[in-house]
Amino acid sequence: MWLLTALLLWVPVGGQVEDSTKAVITLQPPWVNVFREENVALWCEGPHLPGNNSVHWLLNGTTLQTSTPRHSIVAASFSDSGEYMCQTGLSAQSDPVQLEIHAAWLLLQPSSRVLTEGEPLTLRCHGWKNKLVYNVVFYQNGKPIKFSYRDSELTLLKTNMNHSSIYHCSGKGKPPYIFTSTGVAVTVKELFPAPVLSSSLSSPLWEEKLVTLSCKTKLLLQRPGVQLYFSFYMGNMMLRGRNTSSEYQILTARKEDSGSYWCEAATEDGNVLKRSRVLELQVYGPQSPISVGFHILFYLPMGLIFLVDTVLCVRIYKELPRKTKWNLEMSLASDHGEEETSDNLKGI
Ligand SMILES: *[C@@H]1O[C@H](CO)[C@@H](O)[C@H](O)[C@H]1NC(C)=O
Ligand SMILES: *[C@@H]1O[C@H](CO)[C@@H](O)[C@H](O)[C@H]1NC(C)=O
Ligand SMILES: *[C@@H]1O[C@H](CO)[C@@H](O)[C@H](O)[C@H]1NC(C)=O
Ligand SMILES: *[C@@H]1O[C@H](CO)[C@@H](O)[C@H](O)[C@H]1NC(C)=O
Repeated sequence: MWLLTALLLWVPVGGQVEDSTKAVITLQPPWVNVFREENVALWCEGPHLPGNNSVHWLLNGTTLQTSTPRHSIVAASFSDSGEYMCQTGLSAQSDPVQLEIHAAWLLLQPSSRVLTEGEPLTLRCHGWKNKLVYNVVFYQNGKPIKFSYRDSELTLLKTNMNHSSIYHCSGKGKPPYIFTSTGVAVTVKELFPAPVLSSSLSSPLWEEKLVTLSCKTKLLLQRPGVQLYFSFYMGNMMLRGRNTSSEYQILTARKEDSGSYWCEAATEDGNVLKRSRVLELQVYGPQSPISVGFHILFYLPMGLIFLVDTVLCVRIYKELPRKTKWNLEMSLASDHGEEETSDNLKGI
């Protein structure tokens, strides 16, 4: 009933009307493959016309006789195998549910063949005619993942894409029999990719700027009522907890705001939670009076030294020819006595 209410309450946005009101098929018991002669019921849930809860059932695209929300299969036969779909008065056609009828000693029964990450998955290793099976081993892509002496069910509470695999099981019946089921493919679809954290200003940046961090991802599947929540972190510190806003603002960035930022996107129940990669942010301090003073203290003497050097060089260069001349005159005058030499010196 809650599902029906949720479907009715969910107001579609952006013209995704069909997706929002899809009917949903559930199986009771939940297994998508069963043995011949077992019983299984299919339920169709979706919004109805007032006073008319008739349901349109399809098997392999052909209309079935049933028009009630429940389609019961008693003592299943191979002809009950196929792709089931249903539609209620105000819903769009449901996603197909593939039901298979088998005859074997051992059957691996998944609770769904196609699911969305975060949803639970139950696998059952079921013996023909409910015969007791022990020493059960579950395999994922050929690798054993669970051993159990008696219990023949394995539940994965939160699936992720790594659970998309072929599963099978083996078990012992009456000695000396060892049975192995055939493999069943299970697909887990991605709900949203890991978010990407970006900054409105590229690093490094100067202090006192407004910086907006955006945690971006997008829902890949239409799921009624799915809302993502975002959290922001710097190193080990949480800057802001769960919020529907995918943006975080640093109003006036300071040097202390330099660090490793990352964000997390999660569904409301937290069953799907993904982290972004780290974004390094470097904030430079302003040019404080101290640093200006340091610059002056350092560059002023350096400039003076340079200036003095230049002036000296020019003067020495200019004086060089005159000094050479004077030296020549000095050597010439040495024959004429001291007075002339002093006259020459005054002339410089
Ligand atoms: C439906 O199709 C499946 C194969 O896609 C087939 O095995 C099954 O017999 C069909 N069922 C009916 C009732 O036609
Ligand atoms: C109920 O709705 C179905 C279509 O969804 C229609 O075929 C059927 O005649 C309706 N029954 C009554 C009693 O109105
Ligand atoms: C899936 O497997 C890969 C590689 O084995 C691993 O790096 C990744 O973290 C796994 N993903 C999840 C959601 O566990
Ligand atoms: C989410 O953030 C906005 C603004 O950043 C704030 O007004 C709102 O109260 C927050 N919601 C929750 C649930 O913390």
